[in-house]
Amino acid sequence: MPSAETGNAIVARGLTRRFGNVVAVDSLDLTVERAQVYGFLGPNGSGKSTTIRMLCGLLLPSAGQIEVLGYKIPQQAEALKRGGRVEGVAVENLQPILQAVSENIALEIQKTFDFFKATSSEDRIDTILLSGGSSKVRGLRELLADRFEASVDVMNPFNNVTYNPRDFDPDFINEIGPQAAIAVGLAIRKVGDR
Ligand SMILES: Nc1ncnc2c1ncn2[C@@H]1O[C@H](COP(=O)(O)OP(=O)(O)OP(=O)(O)O)[C@@H](O)[C@H]1O
Ligand SMILES: [Mg+2]
Repeated sequence: MPSAETGNAIVARGLTRRFGNVVAVDSLDLTVERAQVYGFLGPNGSGKSTTIRMLCGLLLPSAGQIEVLGYKIPQQAEALKRGGRVEGVAVENLQPILQAVSENIALEIQKTFDFFKATSSEDRIDTILLSGGSSKVRGLRELLADRFEASVDVMNPFNNVTYNPRDFDPDFINEIGPQAAIAVGLAIRKVGDR
């Protein structure tokens, strides 16, 4: 089975998916090289979407093997989604880019604060809570604390939730907390909220 070193982005062998008696994808062999643009063309029901869903790890194949960027799918689909180190890119080189993005985020937040101050009886913001991916951006926390003279924390909706650490790995819970905050925020919205 070819892997990351061979320069292939996608390798599928004998990929098959059955839905009951329907064979949606039948022993497909597919190789897509890195940087190649590859399109699926075919009549309705010919198995394009089913193939793509299997390549993404969203649907289990009935038979066959898949490798995407050297990751075995579906077993390593989560690792693929999260990404790893990209060859030839040093983490230090990303810092100026992250810094520039953080500056832009701070400018946007400033606009929101200005609006808040102009329309609310409060004129101070004491605490900023970061959620989602931004909570993981290196340096953003410090930059916001400095710019707005507020304490900046990472939001974790599981902080006050009791769970059995044998059922849930605490590191995992802390890691997904800021992302889950977004889901919680969306879930508690009601129709008509603005
Ligand atoms: N979840 C499912 N359950 C049962 N049958 C399914 C399911 N998904 C797809 N199929 C069947 O598998 C076959 C391939 O469907 P698929 O959606 O992959 O085709 P497609 O090439 O993406 O078609 P389209 O051009 O209409 O998007 C079809 O016969 C379809 O009815
Ligand atoms: Mg389709």
